Amino acid sequence: MIKKISHIGLAVEDLEKARVFFREKFALSVLERECFGELLFSFISLEGTDMELLQSTTIDGQIAKFIEKKGQGIHHIAFEVDDIQPELDRLKRKGVRLINEMPYVNAHEDLVAFLHPKSTFGVLVELIQKK
Ligand code: CO
Repeated sequence: MIKKISHIGLAVEDLEKARVFFREKFALSVLERECFGELLFSFISLEGTDMELLQSTTIDGQIAKFIEKKGQGIHHIAFEVDDIQPELDRLKRKGVRLINEMPYVNAHEDLVAFLHPKSTFGVLVELIQKK
């Protein structure tokens, strides 16, 4: 079952610049920089729904390609679920295209999987089961 929007991911060219922006202009609590594969990211802690700032560390990374095609902006919306695998199976049975048939473990040891934007009105959707 989908519980809520866990976070909204923003693709940015310069993570540090974005971190400073949200900290200084919006007075938000921007968490530490983290690294996962080709991603450099930082969460902004908000009540209920977080923001995730994402920068690519390689020129051909997912985020770099996204920015090249669409510019900086909203990259994905993450829905929190209580039990990810049955949710993925259910969505697949309903004809939703999955990017990840099986969830994988992210940098925070949550289980995550992505749905294909072609079957979700152009928005990349992440499902996340918190640790
Ligand atoms: Co995310």
